[in-house]
Amino acid sequence: MKQPNKTTWLNLPSLGLSIRMLFTGYLLTIGFGLLMAGAQILLTHGMADGKFGLSIDDIVYSYYGNRGNSKLESKLNGSMKDKAPEEIRTKLIQWARDGAPEDRWHQEIEADVVTYCSGCHGNIPGLPALATYEVMQEIAETDHGASIDSLTRVSHIHLFGIAFIFFLMGFVFSFSVGIPKWLKELVILTPFVFLILDIVSWWATKWYPSFAWFTMLGGVGYTLASTFMWFTSMYQMWVLPYNGKDYCVNTWED
Ligand code: HEC
Repeated sequence: MKQPNKTTWLNLPSLGLSIRMLFTGYLLTIGFGLLMAGAQILLTHGMADGKFGLSIDDIVYSYYGNRGNSKLESKLNGSMKDKAPEEIRTKLIQWARDGAPEDRWHQEIEADVVTYCSGCHGNIPGLPALATYEVMQEIAETDHGASIDSLTRVSHIHLFGIAFIFFLMGFVFSFSVGIPKWLKELVILTPFVFLILDIVSWWATKWYPSFAWFTMLGGVGYTLASTFMWFTSMYQMWVLPYNGKDYCVNTWED
């Protein structure tokens, strides 16, 4: 019987330079992208409770909301803290706590909001235009966290976008050598499972704040798995080929 050809060069250390360049360019770019994503999480969600660094409270505030507090107040103590001087912030917060009365809006509040907030809110698409009373009144009400609208939008962008990143990263990593078969299979599947867990937990946290732990777990899970795949792949493409050993294995074969 005729044996099928064995593609014994199908592994990271044996791949030709051009395909390694392609893989490397991709890994460098998403590596940079993932660092930026981390920074972005720290700067928006990380500041939700007004303190630097990501905590369970941040996740609860972002999705469940800071009930008993208005979105205006939590933002002014969080990621919008540097947008207006102390006395303006205090005035806005006091106004929200007093139930956002319309007469005081026109007399005391509107002009400051136009000065300090409208530059972005009103010009950047997707941000609430704050210079109208109706919009401000809503934001000055009790904070119920992320809206269904924004959750739906961010969820589908994350699921589609990040699945792409994990798919290609897992694809590159699938050519790695010397990793126990079970571990390799597990590491390739892990990011997807944790990504789904992450997104589902946002929705769960919107109603039950204790699910915030799963958001944290999801993030840690896929960060660990991607970091492992990233470094393993880079090492096998740029160190192993130059150590004088031959790697005769088809990594796509069972
Ligand atoms: C330099 C641009 C900029 C300025 C100025 C600014 N914001 Fe923001 N604001 C943003 C961005 C970007 C977001 C979304 C990210 C976030 O939530 O931190 C945001 C989000 C918010 C939100 C949450 C909106 C939502 O529906 O989730 C509130 C409330 C808010 N800002 C209030 C203010 C107030 C009040 C001021 C004026 C004192 C202000 N912002 C000034 C850029 C700005």
